[in-house]
This record gives sequence, C-alpha cells and structure tokens, in this order.
Amino acid sequence: MSNNIREKVVVITGASSGLGESTARHLASLGASVVLGARRTDKLETIAAEIRGAGGKVAIKATDVTRADDLKALVQLAKDSFGKVDVIVNNAGLMAIAPMTETKVEEWNRMIDINIKGLLYGVAAVLPEFQAQNSGHIINVASVGGIKVFAPGGTVYSSTKFAVRAITEGLRIELDNNIRTTIISPGAVSSELKNGSSHAESSAFVNDFYRNNEIPADSVARAIAYAIEQPANVDISEIVIRPTVQEF
Ligand SMILES: NC(=O)c1ccc[n+]([C@@H]2O[C@H](COP(=O)([O-])OP(=O)(O)OC[C@H]3O[C@@H](n4cnc5c(N)ncnc54)[C@H](OP(=O)(O)O)[C@@H]3O)[C@@H](O)[C@H]2O)c1
Repeated sequence: MSNNIREKVVVITGASSGLGESTARHLASLGASVVLGARRTDKLETIAAEIRGAGGKVAIKATDVTRADDLKALVQLAKDSFGKVDVIVNNAGLMAIAPMTETKVEEWNRMIDINIKGLLYGVAAVLPEFQAQNSGHIINVASVGGIKVFAPGGTVYSSTKFAVRAITEGLRIELDNNIRTTIISPGAVSSELKNGSSHAESSAFVNDFYRNNEIPADSVARAIAYAIEQPANVDISEIVIRPTVQEF
C-alpha cells in the first residue's frame, strides 16, 4: 500500500478517547507511526496494545497539555522512537458548558489552559523541529462552536475555539510555505466530551443534543487523514464536519 500517510510520524494529544483515539487507530492502520499523549496512561496502554496487535507502530507518554515541558517530551519521544515528527494533531480539549451567570471561573480557566494554552504548547514543541527539517503539518482541532458562538452555555468554550481558529490561520500566514496548517471544526461527534459540564441543566441539554445528533468519531479521523495525505504543496486549511441533521 502506498499513500502519503505511510512512514509519517504523527503526534496526537488527547489520544486516550474520542476523536484522538479514533484518529490514532485510523492513521496507524494507514501506516503512520503514532505518538500518543494524554493523562490516562491506562487507556493509552490499551490503545497502543491494540494498535501493535494489528501491526501498527505506536509510542505513548503521560502528557498534560497544560505543561509546556510535557509537550516537548512528547515530541522528543517521537524523535527517539521514530527519528522525526511530521505532524502534530493538537486535539486535547475540554467542554464545560454552563451559563456565564454561574461564574464557573475555575472551569473557564481549565478550558483556556487546555484548549488554548495547551494547543500553543504543542505548536511551540514542534515548530523548531519543523523549521529545522523544512517541513511539517500542524492540525488543530477547533469546533463549529469556533465559527458560531454556542450560547447560552458555551460562551467560554466557543471563545477558546475561536482562538484555535485564529491561531491556526495566523500560523498559516506566518509560517514558511513548507509547513502546512489545518483547522478541523467538528460538530457533534461521539466521545466523552459531552460529559465535561458540572452544571446539571446544561449537562442534560448537551447529552440530549448529542444523543439526537452525534456521528461516530471515525468521521473526524477520516477528515484528518484526508488533510495529511495530500501532496506536500496542497494545504487543506480548514475542514468543517458535522452531522447532516445538525443545524449550526
Ligand atoms: N466530540 C465533539 O462533539 C467535538 C466537537 C467539536 C470539537 N471537539 C474537540 O475535539 C477534541 C477532542 O475531544 P473529544 O470529543 O474526543 O472528547 P474526549 O473524548 O473528552 O477527549 C478529550 C481528550 O483530551 C484529553 N485531555 C483533556 N485534558 C487534557 C490535559 N490537560 N492534558 C492532556 N490531555 C487532556 C483527554 O485525555 P485524558 O483525560 O486522558 O488526559 C482525552 O483524550 C477537543 O478539542 C474538542 O473540543 C469535539
């Protein structure tokens, strides 16, 4: 099998569940070497064993994206295990839905720390490598909530995803042409994300919405593979992928 994914080394954050896990399994099945980071190493170990069992190449490391050094270590693991890093999928995220009037300041901080700062730390970890090797691909997972404000309830979550889109578009403009950037903006996709809210009423709304709308996580995995497999001079700058039945 020949494709433009085989032999690529892909670092994925938030790979212990949902979109990250599905993307890891899909890319590994297409011949990529995948380097997986998340906090729940028990889950990473199970996923890695299954990928290896299917003949895939994988390395894992406990990673908290709120720590810049953890991202550096994850990228170093890619280099130590497979000799280089070609792609990073900055995917780790938290969606804590609640009305602003609940003033859940700690959850606002966690979303900002994980969804924005954690993603920036991933960018910081790969940029020196990409510049040195004169190639690379930064794939950042945003959301349809980063295109339209999801309110009431998702105002801070949406703001983090607007930031993801702004950061990624800025990178596309700023970086050398040989470094590609892609924004992935999913709608409702089956994962653990819907459980991130501590506000009972919002949580019930979100879970009901997902039950009636969600599509499988591998739909996003295929979109990410599509962006990676393009020839080096083709940049899939942005993909919006949502359930057919979802209106926004
Ligand atoms: N599912 C959707 O409907 C949807 C829609 C639009 C956008 N998205 C975005 O897709 C991305 C993936 O989410 P998902 O839907 O797959 O949800 P998920 O199943 O909850 O996965 C989130 C992942 O992020 C990781 N994570 C959370 N905090 C972290 C931290 N501090 N350090 C490292 N990893 C951390 C989690 O791993 P650990 O807990 O093991 O660390 C987990 O692997 C997120 O950015 C989300 O905003 C999802």
